[in-house]
Amino acid sequence: MRSFHVKWKSPSNIALVKYWGKNGYQLPANVSLSMTLSEAVSTTEVRFTPLPDGQGPRVQFSFDGQPHELFQQRIEKYLQYLADNEMPFLRHYQLDITSHNSFPHSSGIASSAAFMSSLALCLCSVEEQLQEGIGYAFFERASFIARLGSGSAARSVYGGYVSWGRNMYVPHSSDEYATPINKRVHPTFLSYADAIVIVSDQPKAISSSAGHKLMENHPYRLIRYRQANIHHEDLLQALLCEDRQRFAEIVENEALQLHALLMTSVPSYILMEPATLHVIQLVRQLRKETSIPVCFTLDAGPNVHILYAKDDVNVVEDYIRNQILPNLPHPARVLYDHTGNGPEQIFFQTLD
Ligand code: DP6
Repeated sequence: MRSFHVKWKSPSNIALVKYWGKNGYQLPANVSLSMTLSEAVSTTEVRFTPLPDGQGPRVQFSFDGQPHELFQQRIEKYLQYLADNEMPFLRHYQLDITSHNSFPHSSGIASSAAFMSSLALCLCSVEEQLQEGIGYAFFERASFIARLGSGSAARSVYGGYVSWGRNMYVPHSSDEYATPINKRVHPTFLSYADAIVIVSDQPKAISSSAGHKLMENHPYRLIRYRQANIHHEDLLQALLCEDRQRFAEIVENEALQLHALLMTSVPSYILMEPATLHVIQLVRQLRKETSIPVCFTLDAGPNVHILYAKDDVNVVEDYIRNQILPNLPHPARVLYDHTGNGPEQIFFQTLD
């Protein structure tokens, strides 16, 4: 049996139509749509060493050179699931995994999307080399495998704009893997910028998996799923027709709906902070004053993603520096990012 050494770099993504609620095992309760980032990436390297006893997968995980107990357990569980259900070759390997993020922890950037997609790509590269998993298109398979680790990671295996969840508007769409939709996106959106205002770098108050669970008995569940489908359809139209006004309306509504769901679930969560509302109000003020259709979105946390076109970079970024940052109750940082091209393989080595 051969050893392998593989390394992938994979970006995070920001959901514009939010995945919030699951069906069954890692299947989405509603369709979602995201923009893949460029600068916020995880780089993951895996050494596959054959095990003589077939008692694997054995896993050793380190993050930034340090062991990470919580993630170690999550990865062990994930890889065991894959070995039992999808990738039997994993039983014959010890996997030494090291990963690094280009962005700070708890920055409001989905690290699980970037990490899980980079790991899934490493696994799929070896699967392909072993000529297992035949009959799958490589990135479709990687999206499927990434989804089993973290739902939003299914979307990170592609650049640009990505839809995930079966729907009648995206050909070949599925709940099991995501689909890129860039051919139907106006070039203006393909170079959109995302300035992430980090108003708090405290760890998440609720994990995503616990958050998804809150939807199971949520009183607004059905109306939410219907609304997400409508937003997805409308956003596809806005992306195609370069309707930046409509884009802004839908994207902001989705962000606020996610937080409204969190606030009205049992138990209830208020993840926005005073500074979050401050930034939101200032973004809306800028839009009103300049007619630039800049908008915001939020993940399940207090940090604000400000989205705008390349042509408006100077005006919006001056405003962030001169009007937003100095007016917040606490010092905040900004990470400047933009739409990216998706993952990149750094190397693949077979060692006999
Ligand atoms: C609010 O993908 O992190 O960011 O599948 O349990 O890993 P798991 O959840 P995760 O949920 C992401 C939720 C969200 C919205 C989104 O990215 O669509």
